[in-house]
Amino acid sequence: MKGNSKMKIGVLVSGGGSNLQAIMDAVAVGALDVEIACVGSDNPDAKGLERAEKAGIPTFVTDYSAFFARWKEGAALPEDFSLETVASRQSLMKGSDPDILKAFLEKRALAEAALLAALAPYKIDLLVLAGFMRVLTPYFIDALNTDSNRPRIMNIHPALLPAFPGTDGYGDTFRYGCKVGGCTVHFVDYGEDSGPIIGQSCFPIESSDDLDAVKKKGLAEEWRLFPDCIGLYAEDRLNVVERQGTRVVEILPPAAR
Ligand code: GAR
Repeated sequence: MKGNSKMKIGVLVSGGGSNLQAIMDAVAVGALDVEIACVGSDNPDAKGLERAEKAGIPTFVTDYSAFFARWKEGAALPEDFSLETVASRQSLMKGSDPDILKAFLEKRALAEAALLAALAPYKIDLLVLAGFMRVLTPYFIDALNTDSNRPRIMNIHPALLPAFPGTDGYGDTFRYGCKVGGCTVHFVDYGEDSGPIIGQSCFPIESSDDLDAVKKKGLAEEWRLFPDCIGLYAEDRLNVVERQGTRVVEILPPAAR
């Protein structure tokens, strides 16, 4: 981060928050020089919220289920939401029935507008998805990614992308019989776990490993990889470039002191 002030991050969690804990621990020991400005969740019962509260970090809940219910009752959509624009940009539901796509995007626009409003006061530089189990639509992504060369949403995924996108990366890796598993940190784009890759870490899967063992090995890698990738962003060392038609991340060497 240029200048003297620390980069501010917001973290979104849906569950246990062990990655959030790893990020908080890295900050606490000085291995990661950022300020965690807020932690939010779509799930009021997320244990990650408790972890943040214990550390004195402000928290908020954007209860997606409540917004989906409001959509059913005919709640007004956000004024800056255009179904046509968002539908033309999204690539999560390619080729789906127009009515299903409309419902999918409108419900999320309601929840995402609330999420944006909850984040706004913290003026974050980077949003970190640490086990946030909701897809984000172009309505939300475009509100944060105002500079195409500097994406502002980072996600951790429990598989070696582009293999096994979706909600059960370690399960899919294990069931496929892979001999190596891994995790990936990437910038979020309009697709499902398809954005430019920042970092990956892998581990061997032994024939004696069950799914729990795979998850355990994977999480241990995640806890190292995620703070490292956030640190690279904070040091301004991630450069998104177009290479042969694909947007990829170049990692720049540390700035000369
Ligand atoms: C992690 O394994 C993370 O990679 C995964 O959820 C888990 C959250 O654990 N994320 C996804 O699957 C996102 N699609 P945590 O709450 O203990 O950090």
